[in-house]
Amino acid sequence: MLGAVELRCGLLLGMMTMVGLNAQMVKAATGEGPGAAAIVVPAGAGAGGGDSWWRHAVLYEIYPRSFQDSNGDGIGDINGITSRLDYLKDLGIDAIWITPMYPSPGVDYGYDISDYTAIDPEYGTMADFDHMVAEAKARGIRVIMDYVINHTSDQNAWFKESRSSRDNPKRDWYVWRDGKIGEDGKLGPPNNWQSWFGHSAWTWDETTKQYYYHYFYVQQPDLNWKNPEVRKAMYGVLEFWMKHGVAGFRIDAVSRLFEDPEMRDDPYMPGYNAYGDRNIQHKYTDDLPEVHDVLREVRKVVDAFPGDPVLVTEADEPNIGELTKMYGVDGKNDEVQLPMDFQIADVNELSAVKFRKLFDEVEANTAKGQPEYFFSNHDQRRQWDRYGDGVHNDQIAKLMAALLLTTRGTPQMYYGEEIGMRTTDPARIEDVHDPIGKLGWPKEKGRDGERTPMQWDASVHAGFTTGKPWLPVPPSAATYNVQVESQNPDSIYSTYKRLLALRKSEPALRDGAYEAVNESDEHVFAYLRKSGDETLLVALNMSAAARTIAVKSAGREADVLYRSPLGKMGLKAETVSLGKIELEPFGFVVARVK
Ligand code: NOJ
Repeated sequence: MLGAVELRCGLLLGMMTMVGLNAQMVKAATGEGPGAAAIVVPAGAGAGGGDSWWRHAVLYEIYPRSFQDSNGDGIGDINGITSRLDYLKDLGIDAIWITPMYPSPGVDYGYDISDYTAIDPEYGTMADFDHMVAEAKARGIRVIMDYVINHTSDQNAWFKESRSSRDNPKRDWYVWRDGKIGEDGKLGPPNNWQSWFGHSAWTWDETTKQYYYHYFYVQQPDLNWKNPEVRKAMYGVLEFWMKHGVAGFRIDAVSRLFEDPEMRDDPYMPGYNAYGDRNIQHKYTDDLPEVHDVLREVRKVVDAFPGDPVLVTEADEPNIGELTKMYGVDGKNDEVQLPMDFQIADVNELSAVKFRKLFDEVEANTAKGQPEYFFSNHDQRRQWDRYGDGVHNDQIAKLMAALLLTTRGTPQMYYGEEIGMRTTDPARIEDVHDPIGKLGWPKEKGRDGERTPMQWDASVHAGFTTGKPWLPVPPSAATYNVQVESQNPDSIYSTYKRLLALRKSEPALRDGAYEAVNESDEHVFAYLRKSGDETLLVALNMSAAARTIAVKSAGREADVLYRSPLGKMGLKAETVSLGKIELEPFGFVVARVK
């Protein structure tokens, strides 16, 4: 009988013969030859083309401050990332999205940019950046940059000019308004709009005696996207980084770009937020139709470059209708290729019913756009504890890996997710870095907890730095780290690695059609992935009890390609009857239907 690895390689060889690849390329794809990149990352097939690289890529988000420090200052940096490219290649990812590394005062840890076309010395130099891109490319890994489009830092030269006088040529690059006399007879902000990070979205500027608008921190004034000069300058930023060899952009906070010209007050909702403000619906500052004009223009700018550049949006859209528009209004597909699916990421419980409904929904999106999935990121509590039940967290982390890597779409991982890093909040307000944690303490502890240093090994600072890490290394690093977990075939890390390899070797998993099965099952989320004659079954038990399911499909039996937990069978080949598939608590199988 063949083991899973042999099975995989057999299939890979079969598949390559079918598409006419030669033996040297086969070696490369199995990681043996020097030209591995040739197959793993095919040349771009043109914008929106059928075989666009981003359709079958796995993205990996790096929070550069916390990934790998190379110079002992306790802060991760570009050379640190470069030194870990072999790790990333071996893990099996295809592209890295790096959160901002541009010069910044660091109020919002890089999301407040003072210069869009330079590298912050904290992270290295432009030469380090170019070197990293080249080394990544040599390993078949693409680099995606963060494009912070809604706002700049208040230390950006553009804003400094803008705030210097009412008649400065850059005055209109930001959103300035007169105040309004309130019911108390005092001058106050123009309306009730609130910052996402608490309190009024308007800040008074004494020099020119007007308010400026900021959807986020006071130090992050919003750009005025109605101004053509702003557009020109910001499109120049895209061109600058494209010329430095990047493969695309993740566009930050894109739905916030425009505000209601009539400046109407937002409606209040019941209750108060963590900062003590009345809850509000951001009706007049989110998702205005003009956002799509900008996205179309951005797409045109990047499409002028070769390599089929990708646009990913941070689009925490309220429903599938708004999410679908991100691909292009009226199904045109001329905006972004990969809008991140927050509907799915925000399901905060392990619910087969909820996941099935949302996966079905995005699958049927009328634009026929490619879904983009994630469960953890630098703003989101880590999935190990978000979905964990306190008893089976490791097994649940493996289940979530299967959900991410076997559904149809482009998966996006967050650094450390592959080793089961957990959210580790600061214990005391004095230790908090993220300003919202200071403002909202203790209800809102900020986002430090999901940004702790990567856990490479069990040494004192987990192999992240030789200095003092900017955020403490969590105690879990002693056992949850790359070195320890790579020794254990049933670790979270080994599960990710095997699923990533399976996704590469199985065309049905990578690109195949998705079809939900057993749709009334409340506990097991099961679906088929189909490509040509091949049908794979994925069954994910989202409950704490062992379950047995029967799946109606064309075949009667299936060869298990991967079962978790590994259990007695280990990695040995196993054939199951589709009438009786046994799943352990939070266990899953991926199997080829015969
Ligand atoms: C979204 C980013 O992901 C988040 O980290 C940041 O604070 C806000 N945008 C503001 O830029």
